[in-house]
Amino acid sequence: MTTRPAALMPFPDTTEVTPAGLVVGGLALTEIAKHYGTPLYVYDEASIRRRAESVVAAVAAGPAGSRAAFALKSLSTLAVLRVLQQAGMSADCASSGEIAAALRAGFSGDQLVVHGNAKSEADLVAAIDADAGLVVLDGRDEAERLAALCTRSGRRQDVLVRIAPGIDVDTHRHIATGHLGSKFGMTPTEGAELLRTLPGGLHGRGLHVHLGSQILDPEPLVDAARWLPRFAKAEGIPLEVLDVGGGLGIAYLPGQDNPDPAAHTAALVAAVTDVCVDEGIPVPQIIVEPGRSIVGTAGLTLYSVLGIKTVGDGSTWVSVDGGMGDNLRVGLYGGTYAPVLAARPIDVAAGHVRIAGRHCESTDVLVDDVELPEVHVGDLIAVPATGAYHQTMANTYNLFGRPAAVLVGNGVATLITRRESTDELFLRDV
Ligand SMILES: Cc1ncc(COP(=O)(O)O)c(C=O)c1O
Repeated sequence: MTTRPAALMPFPDTTEVTPAGLVVGGLALTEIAKHYGTPLYVYDEASIRRRAESVVAAVAAGPAGSRAAFALKSLSTLAVLRVLQQAGMSADCASSGEIAAALRAGFSGDQLVVHGNAKSEADLVAAIDADAGLVVLDGRDEAERLAALCTRSGRRQDVLVRIAPGIDVDTHRHIATGHLGSKFGMTPTEGAELLRTLPGGLHGRGLHVHLGSQILDPEPLVDAARWLPRFAKAEGIPLEVLDVGGGLGIAYLPGQDNPDPAAHTAALVAAVTDVCVDEGIPVPQIIVEPGRSIVGTAGLTLYSVLGIKTVGDGSTWVSVDGGMGDNLRVGLYGGTYAPVLAARPIDVAAGHVRIAGRHCESTDVLVDDVELPEVHVGDLIAVPATGAYHQTMANTYNLFGRPAAVLVGNGVATLITRRESTDELFLRDV
């Protein structure tokens, strides 16, 4: 048995290369696929737990009450949420559905930080009913709607105000959120004004900022964390809590940076602490909201090869039994991946191929160009770094049921999401 070569770095921490091919969590991927079928999401429990625990430990260096709230939008499968809850994380929820998922997974109401740029009444009521620790306000209209609901239920709700500070980050423009013109949050001036003049029933605790996602250079995130206490002091607004959001990126391809989320969290806590000491203001409770950097490289997707053909321009298409139904990242923001053959991950490459999804869209291409060993029908393809924003974005386009998911660890695979059957596709039609 050998440890994995650098080319396999985006795969989960427990990945090994063995004569049986790739092994994750102590199990051969070929065996897992034989048992559970494809397409299949596979999550490595040890990778998830280790990252979650290290981030929880890093944020605990902040004042009491500081915490790491896992962003459910990145992955909300209950079994994974239970692992994260046990690891000491809180929960960042962006809908009534995500609030329900967090509660079902065992998070308590006070662990919930509720987000959303367009919260419906159902979302706000769900937050109130759950006794959510914090609601992050995205605008004045929402503050008034929430205040009215709080007055009706005789409740006082702790809130933060989300601001878009006009800081640009180096990421795909579709996942940047902190720039001027973003649909998320308020201008700093208007956000400060809202905190000063909150309607009755709301208790302003501080500010929230989230600059974007898949950010590989964390410096702008740390800069924003330094800027916010100074801004709060200058505006004379409360800053008992400072939520600096998520956004740290992961390696999707071998050789890409794969920043350590715990080190990044430690840098954020140190930056906020230093600036508050310099400014002579109390250090606020610090909240971080990582999603992708906790679960991204802990997950992979397995596909079976259904056909291989060379077309008019000489390119070779390898068609698989999944695609944009289980991976929207390619179509949404040009996501790139470095797949391997699960049974022969380090065999010598035989040539370049393109991996086609099965959906009726020309853009349903999982990987535009990858060098693989000779591929045969029935081969198993493993696509790494699909732990975040894959299962949560899965859809039923072309009426393909959504994939199953398993959690692996210590040589055991546990089915955590059943494959969606054809009958289930019609449950909502009347
Ligand atoms: C408010 C908020 N917090 C946290 C996150 C998680 O971001 P990431 O998965 O990039 O860490 C997001 C993602 O969009 C977000 O909008």
